[in-house]
Amino acid sequence: MEKVVALTKRRGFIYPSSEIYGGLSGFYDYGPYGVALKRAIRDLWWRHVVELRDDIVGLESTLIMPEAVWEASGHLANFVDPLRQCLGPCRRRWRADQLLGDRCPQCGGVLDDVRMFNLMFKTHVGPVEDRASEAYLRPETAQGMFVDFKNVISSTRVRVPFGIAQQGKAFRNEITPGNFLFRVREFELMELEYFVKPREDDEWFDYWRKERMRWHTDVLGVDKSRLRFYDHPKESLSHYSKQTTDIEYEFPFGWGELEGIADRTDYDLAVHQEKSKQDLTYLDPETNERYLPWVIEPAVSVERIFVTLLLDAYDEDVVNNEPRVVLRLHPNVAPVQVAVVPLSKKEELIKVAQEVVRSLRGEFRAEYDQTGGHIGRRYRRQDEIGTPFCVTVDFDTLSDKAVTIRMRDSTAQERPSIDSLNERLKALIAAH
Ligand code: GAP
Repeated sequence: MEKVVALTKRRGFIYPSSEIYGGLSGFYDYGPYGVALKRAIRDLWWRHVVELRDDIVGLESTLIMPEAVWEASGHLANFVDPLRQCLGPCRRRWRADQLLGDRCPQCGGVLDDVRMFNLMFKTHVGPVEDRASEAYLRPETAQGMFVDFKNVISSTRVRVPFGIAQQGKAFRNEITPGNFLFRVREFELMELEYFVKPREDDEWFDYWRKERMRWHTDVLGVDKSRLRFYDHPKESLSHYSKQTTDIEYEFPFGWGELEGIADRTDYDLAVHQEKSKQDLTYLDPETNERYLPWVIEPAVSVERIFVTLLLDAYDEDVVNNEPRVVLRLHPNVAPVQVAVVPLSKKEELIKVAQEVVRSLRGEFRAEYDQTGGHIGRRYRRQDEIGTPFCVTVDFDTLSDKAVTIRMRDSTAQERPSIDSLNERLKALIAAH
């Protein structure tokens, strides 16, 4: 983990938020390569969950929502962690459910009694800071999809079973943020609420468990042997859930939740119907029955996927008797999919290399690297940021109109014509 954290800072993936002022625990900024990786994750989720299907529509609801929403959803009462503070010299706060015994793990001091701590960030809307103006930054995007449920069914032609999908920021005032991006206080959720006929939840729950696992392995390329399902026992379920399965990844600190798939039944629609006094039922055109659909919810954050991909891809090997660090990212997610490098800074090579990179842009995430320096060093830099293909323009290119593709993983090389480069790269990505 330390090596990955250092690499992400060194190479412009992740910086601590507001670092020049000492940072803010549990908040991170994304640098240029981080943004590219993050957007790739987000786009692939949207593509597979929304665009490639005809049963799921998108939504973007607000980040700030009134107290009534969180009162109804149960988050005001239940979205809490047990907190204990050290009364000794370090004064640290701990999650009580992660402690063994009554002493502070850091300084050995005595711990105070357990208090329940609500994880939602509170703010005020408008100039007056009173009870009536209190609102909350959402801790999940899901509630937006439930409170807009009526709007979606009356303004579109969706038919049960169907889903509403949303990506966007969520905020949780975690007591113990940590393990880099694994547990942060501001993160980006990608959630699907999939509405099904009452009591048809078991089959859809099973479908989404498998479908989401497939996405992580086949689309993102996560190592199958480091993923597993974990079925929650009844006593650890969230307040809204009938059954929950986590897709877990084997992190350096142990198996941990990557994505959760929950069977929320009609819990949320029922509580919002009751509290808002609005009819949220769905009229089934086949049976003419009115009912509240049940919901299967796959939910994952970009941050958990981001840290998983980096840990999964990090490798060290030896090439030409020299040790190298390489991120073996799947080409679907690599921040740079192809780097074009002219062998030297000679004018005629630069001109061709720039033409080549222009012809690749739009189709691939392409980077032009003319930093000079030994070609081997430039390859190593691309290896470290996970670029699967480097395209080298050399002096032979001027006569044979061909370039060298150098593969990150094997370091093997091949020489296609410039005309066929685009197609060749597409084929290499598809075959990965
Ligand atoms: N709407 C359901 C829900 O929010 P959750 O298990 O609390 O369920 C869903 O969170 C997903 O969000 C998790 O599986 C994980 O991927 C991610 N997640 C949760 N808390 C996080 C945090 N503090 N930092 C980063 N990601 C987090």
